[in-house]
Formats: sequence, structure tokens, C-alpha cells
Amino acid sequence: MTQLYDEIGAGYGDHRRPDLRIAAAINGALGESQSVLNVGAGTGSYEPPGRSVLAVEPSLTMIRQRSADMAPVIRASATHLPLADASFDAALAILTIHHWPNRAAGLAELARVARRRIVIVTWDPAFSGFWLVDDYFPAIGAIDKEILPSPQELSLTLMAMEVHPLPVPYDCTDGFLGAYWRRPYAYLDADVRSAISAFFRIGDIEPGLVQLRRDLESGAWERRHGHLLDLAEVDLGYRIVIGHLV
Ligand SMILES: C[S@@+](CC[C@H](N)C(=O)[O-])C[C@H]1O[C@@H](n2cnc3c(N)ncnc32)[C@H](O)[C@@H]1O
Repeated sequence: MTQLYDEIGAGYGDHRRPDLRIAAAINGALGESQSVLNVGAGTGSYEPPGRSVLAVEPSLTMIRQRSADMAPVIRASATHLPLADASFDAALAILTIHHWPNRAAGLAELARVARRRIVIVTWDPAFSGFWLVDDYFPAIGAIDKEILPSPQELSLTLMAMEVHPLPVPYDCTDGFLGAYWRRPYAYLDADVRSAISAFFRIGDIEPGLVQLRRDLESGAWERRHGHLLDLAEVDLGYRIVIGHLV
């Protein structure tokens, strides 16, 4: 299993610390589920305490960052889960489905192993309006629109489906692409970018970085986006999708 995260995942745990507000939203979405299969589990962010959790993760680099007291983990792909039908109350997949080589197969596997519900954290490709992508790295938006499923696609597997916005707090501790919307200097930091896979999917990022640095220094960024500095959270298109199987 050759994995992108075996190449880029080494510093993941340092910059992708679970955010407590996002954790609360995910915990709420899991409802009464007692047993949870966390697929594409990475370093174990958002694995809910007080429930019986099994993690599934293909990348050894990510698995090695899980501490001994975390949920047990098996090395496998979402597309071939070595688990019995209906063996968990819930299947959970957080910011991972766009990495799967065959999303339909992976979603079908979630629906096979879960008894009651599937909880997916993803991004709605119809969303636009994030300054980082629009002004500096439009290639990220173009690729995300190709690799992320529309709610309609998800609804083919998740018949009874709820979709909830997942706003991003201004001081989000989980450094995914949108996390630093109010801290624009962070994107100039190579360590910060190393935990964001979108920067590895596009070609030359240097022109976008040069422009961002220039706009921050000249005040152009603040003139265009300074209103954001007064906001505590924004909707950047991240969504919690709950599929009810019963
Ligand atoms: C952005 S990380 C998210 C990790 C974790 N869910 C979190 O929220 O921090 C994406 C994860 O998906 C995993 N992944 C990639 N391909 C996968 C596959 N075919 N099946 C399951 N997980 C996969 C990666 O190895 C990586 O750990």
C-alpha cells in the first residue's frame, strides 16, 4: 500500500491537533452509537472517549503517531475492510474520503460494516468564497471539486441523510486547509503547509506564496479581507454528513 501520508504525514500530529469544538460536533453526530469504526483514522483525532472504537488506517507513518493508550488500529483501506457485516453501531470517516482510490467502494464498505449510522466530515465542492483558494491557490479549488463528492453523490449510499455545516473557529487547533482563515501568515510557514495535503496536490505553489506575502506586507490582504478579523467562526464549506441506516 503506497500512501500519500507515508510521504507527507510525519509532522501531522504536531499541526493537526483535534479541535474541541469540532470534536463536540462529531461526538453529537455519533448519537447513541456505542461501537465506532473510525476509517482513515490517521493519528486518532476525534476518536470519541467513552465509546468502543476501532481505527482503520493504511499509512504506517500515521499509525506510528498513535500513542499506546489510543484505540486499537488495523492497517487497511476503506475499500476493503476486513470486518464482518453490521459489526459496529457507527462508521466514522473524517476528512478522508477524498483520499480513497475508489470512493463508491469505500462508502459501500462503511454501509456494510455499520448497523445504524455513518458519520462523514467532508467539504462541499459547491462551496466557494475562501480567500486562500480564490485569491492565491485556485488550483486547490479546481482539484477539490474533482476529488470531493457532492451531497448528491453521498446520498446514493446514505439514503436518509442529514448535512450540517461545520463552522471553522478563528483559533482552530486542527490545521487543515481552512483552519487559518483568520491567521493568514500561517500559510507562509512550510511546517504548517506540510500538514495540509492540498498543497501537495497542486504544482508550483511559489507564485501564490509570493503574492500572499506581498499582499500581507502591503496591507492589500487586510483591505480586502480585514472584516474577517472581527469574526469568531466562518462557514468554509466543511460539512458533517450523517447517514441513517435504520
Ligand atoms: C487528512 S487525514 C485525516 C485523518 C483523521 N481522520 C483526522 O481527522 O485527523 C486523511 C487520512 O486518510 C487516510 N487514507 C488515505 N487513503 C485511504 C484509504 N484508501 N482508506 C482509508 N484511509 C485512507 C490517510 O492515510 C490519512 O490518514
